[in-house]
Amino acid sequence: MHIDTKDGIPVRLVMTEADDWHLHVRDGALLGAVLPDTVRRFRRAIIMPNLEPPVTTVAAARAYRERILACVPRDGRFTPLMTLYLTAATTVGDIEEAADSGLIAAVKYYPAGATTNSRQGVSDIRQCDAVLGAMERFDIPLLMHGEVVDPAVDAFAREEVFLERVLTPLLGDFPRLRVVMEHITTAAAVAFVREGPRTLAATLTAHHMLLNRNALFEGGIRPHHYCRPLLQPEGDRRALVAAAISGHPRFFLGTDSAPHPRFAKESACGCAGIYTAHAALELYAEIFADAGALDRLEGFASHFGADFYGLPRNTGTVCLERGPLQVPQTVSFGVGEGVPFRAGMTVDWHLAGTAG
Ligand code: DOR
Ligand code: ZN
Repeated sequence: MHIDTKDGIPVRLVMTEADDWHLHVRDGALLGAVLPDTVRRFRRAIIMPNLEPPVTTVAAARAYRERILACVPRDGRFTPLMTLYLTAATTVGDIEEAADSGLIAAVKYYPAGATTNSRQGVSDIRQCDAVLGAMERFDIPLLMHGEVVDPAVDAFAREEVFLERVLTPLLGDFPRLRVVMEHITTAAAVAFVREGPRTLAATLTAHHMLLNRNALFEGGIRPHHYCRPLLQPEGDRRALVAAAISGHPRFFLGTDSAPHPRFAKESACGCAGIYTAHAALELYAEIFADAGALDRLEGFASHFGADFYGLPRNTGTVCLERGPLQVPQTVSFGVGEGVPFRAGMTVDWHLAGTAG
């Protein structure tokens, strides 16, 4: 890694190519429209399986992988890392097949009803104990959407309650199962992961580190800032930034970039999800630079995730420069237009190319 400064301020960063450890690219025309944004910035990405219908079998993951590869631009180098969607019907046989295939990087747990395309998720993860045992044996990581869906629990407390009701007993019963708590949003989750076993890690999105929950209501209801888990109060946002820049190897980059067409967001019952792939690495650079910790970005974005997944680190480099990236008001999602994060505004850093 190399950082150039001007008058004591970092202006240019060259570091190992990054990976996105949590990404939604959808399918069909939408997939074709959004994938190039990720390919330009990341060498690999963990691909979420919450399609309609969800990716529940190795065969479906293999076919989806082919459709993704067909959308990689000619000059792009990109490896999609495939996941299976855990349902109550997932069997030990499915996990054995996943392990044999060499194609499945992880299995994703959605609590039924928690978010986009989670209807076929799991109501009680303890119904899946045999499957979790097989994942532990074959060392396939479990990626968790860390919220409870109990309607009696306040919408902003669902992550914290998840830690106590779901994650604590799970880690106790499956001590060798590798678990990634995805897109954490609270100081409680940061502390939990920090104090947790080495088998536990967490991904952090740019949007949860840049916005607090006031952003949902700035001058009116803001559907483009609606995501799951929800944005949280300022103290939590700061705790996420502190975790990301801490250099702790069990916190790493996962954008959760989640494209939805504009009409599906600007609706009486709008979809959860924020599109950040168009500026993902630049937004993280802005966060780290503003925190005076740009030298910690490479570990977070390019090393720690690969280490946790047991994959080799990337060998190429990526270059970012200070200077505004102008974000358009809308982008094409193939199936209509989408409104990207920071629409009509700027990001402080821009991509200056990849090499090697
Ligand atoms: O906001 C979200 N959007 N959170 C998720 O967990 C899913 C995602 C999506 O697929 O749109
Ligand atoms: Zn997600």
